[in-house]
Amino acid sequence: AIEIAKLRGQSGLITLDPGFKNTGSTRSSITFLDGEKGILRYRGYNIEDLAEKSNFLEVSYLLIYGELPTQEQYDQFANEITYHTLVHEDIKKILDGFPSVAHPMGVLSSLICSLTAFYPTSLDPNRTDEEIKLSIVRLMAKLPTFAAWAYKNKMGHPANYPDNSLDYCSNFMKMMFALPAEKYDVDPIIANALDKLLILHADHEQNCSTSTVRIVGSSQASIYASISAGINALWGPLHGGANQSVIEMLEAIKEDGGDTKKYLDKAKDKNDPFRLMGFGHRVYKNFDPRAKIIKKAADDVLDKLGVDDPVLDIAKELEEAALNDQYFVDRKLYPNVDFYSGIIYRALGIPTDMFTVMFALGRLPGWIAQWKEMRENNEPIGRPRQVYTGANERPYVSMKER
Ligand code: ACO
Repeated sequence: AIEIAKLRGQSGLITLDPGFKNTGSTRSSITFLDGEKGILRYRGYNIEDLAEKSNFLEVSYLLIYGELPTQEQYDQFANEITYHTLVHEDIKKILDGFPSVAHPMGVLSSLICSLTAFYPTSLDPNRTDEEIKLSIVRLMAKLPTFAAWAYKNKMGHPANYPDNSLDYCSNFMKMMFALPAEKYDVDPIIANALDKLLILHADHEQNCSTSTVRIVGSSQASIYASISAGINALWGPLHGGANQSVIEMLEAIKEDGGDTKKYLDKAKDKNDPFRLMGFGHRVYKNFDPRAKIIKKAADDVLDKLGVDDPVLDIAKELEEAALNDQYFVDRKLYPNVDFYSGIIYRALGIPTDMFTVMFALGRLPGWIAQWKEMRENNEPIGRPRQVYTGANERPYVSMKER
């Protein structure tokens, strides 16, 4: 709607688009998405090809620098990231200050933001491209360490240091699950499954957290502060937090006797705030292509690991019922990326409140690429307008006369 703001004492016309449902905020060459056809491409490469043939660090390089790396570029990128996985010991003191009930997403965003204190040159708006490159490597290297530490804090276990002999995902799994004085070998099936999930989450154009990263970055805030803000935006249940909510919902259905129809009816009831978590998407009005890949991966991973999860059967039953229900058909509500991802995370041994952290791990290169593009485009500070609906000019009334 274009509202005449003038009527309310403002001048000019304002395009009013709550939730920015149809407002473009930027020109971007990173991710192409066709929600009607269910197409997703990073830098022109189909997500299906990348998930099958590439690996997470290669996809990260592609997103951040625009091209698939040569072997030499890849090795350099991977080596630099490996070199920077350690974090300053004082960051552990910050970690120790969090109670064990702290949600790992809050811990993660705080630790990432703390990098502004350890690398204060990141605050300088005139930082060089070389400094930015180093910040990018640091973020890619340290976020898995922080993520694993957030989990260890919750468990009350000592934090594990990175093992730089391992690849990106294996190192993360070892930091998460290794216990003192116990040998821990990462199962390659688990590391590969995680790598694929991270690729599928790596970017998704101007979603809530990415827009947050760009808008915070547009004020020339540090890249660490911008990514920290993105983590907080991702946390909400309508965005990345949905993966946690999906499993909680599926478990509640299981506990309640597995009656999927009852929950489908609840989701359709406009007087009931319940929504079918993991269903619907602002942009996809067709199958989310990531959900298709993840559904198959969930079957494969559970099969390979010999895990029998009754929640997967409930998920499939719910999907089948929703796809044949007029309410969901009319509104083009399909499973999104979060519907099956939690089932894989569970099979990998990752606890529910770490699911959104896993999403952040995957989304990191996308946020970085979008922040970098925003900077390179010299984009103006993000500052939406509003249509004022409050009181007109009023005389001040002193407190004793109120
Ligand atoms: N269950 C039941 N009804 C739904 C659902 C759902 N999951 N999603 C949308 N609808 C209905 C709405 O009630 C509305 O119905 P109406 O037209 O009769 O009023 C219609 O479908 C359109 O929904 P909106 O909320 O207007 O769509 P919007 O684009 O604003 O929301 C969103 C998209 C937030 C993803 C929504 O579908 C939702 O809440 N889904 C559940 C949460 C979820 O899975 N989020 C993860 C998204 S993917 C991601 O962030 C990685």
